Amino acid sequence: MITIKSSREIELMRVAGEIVGDTHKYLMPYLKPGITTEKIDSLARDYIIKRGATPSCYHYEGYPANICISINEEVVHGIAGKRKLKDGDIVTLDICACYKGYHGDSAWTYPVGNVSDEKKYLLEHTEKALYEGLKEVKAGAHVGDIGASVEAYATAHNLGVVKELVGHGVGNHLHEEPDVPNYGKRNTGPVLKAGMVIAVEPMLNLGTANVYLLDDDWTVITADGMPSAHFEHTVLVTDEGYTILTKR
Ligand code: MF3
Ligand code: CO
Repeated sequence: MITIKSSREIELMRVAGEIVGDTHKYLMPYLKPGITTEKIDSLARDYIIKRGATPSCYHYEGYPANICISINEEVVHGIAGKRKLKDGDIVTLDICACYKGYHGDSAWTYPVGNVSDEKKYLLEHTEKALYEGLKEVKAGAHVGDIGASVEAYATAHNLGVVKELVGHGVGNHLHEEPDVPNYGKRNTGPVLKAGMVIAVEPMLNLGTANVYLLDDDWTVITADGMPSAHFEHTVLVTDEGYTILTKR
């Protein structure tokens, strides 16, 4: 079932989204060569808690960290540890916070120091793919319109579209219906209605679209070891279009 949020729920989700967006802004200055991913993770946890929320990822289906930190060829769900960011890395922070029972979810990929032109290209066009997908969001549109748009943009820019992981509804659960794939056909899938909240999250690769799961059972990496980027906003569907809840 795809839920329509009440005005009270939307207010709580606005706060959850704002905390997520602010956590991104708070962490950005720390994304420099030499910082460990566990330091970033603990800064995120402390900030989210200071804002009166909790990190939704922590212990989600057993996930062991507070936010997901994925470097270079890691697509999603990287686990913080002793690894240090290096000049030339790209790093994805996927941050989820729960405020009074309601979630916000936003991922963003950042350059660390000086990155290659290829990586800059990947970041620029994955972010643009997110907005191409969001352009489709509006009451009356089909979920398939979003995926079709993201896929067309990615393909036109020679980027691999990860198919194994999809966007999703958001609410008092982090992952709700509907699935929001980054591929598909227009005029297919569920119809969006005002008051739905969804996370749109293209994950695009410089090389092959194929990915696999590491032995830690969480980290997903590209099959060819080429870099991957991930841009995600949680948005409220409106009659006119959408409102970004995780503004940054
Ligand atoms: N934003 C991530 C997702 O939608 C959140 C994952 S939480 C985790 O998949 F615990 F599964 F890592
Ligand atoms: Co998500």
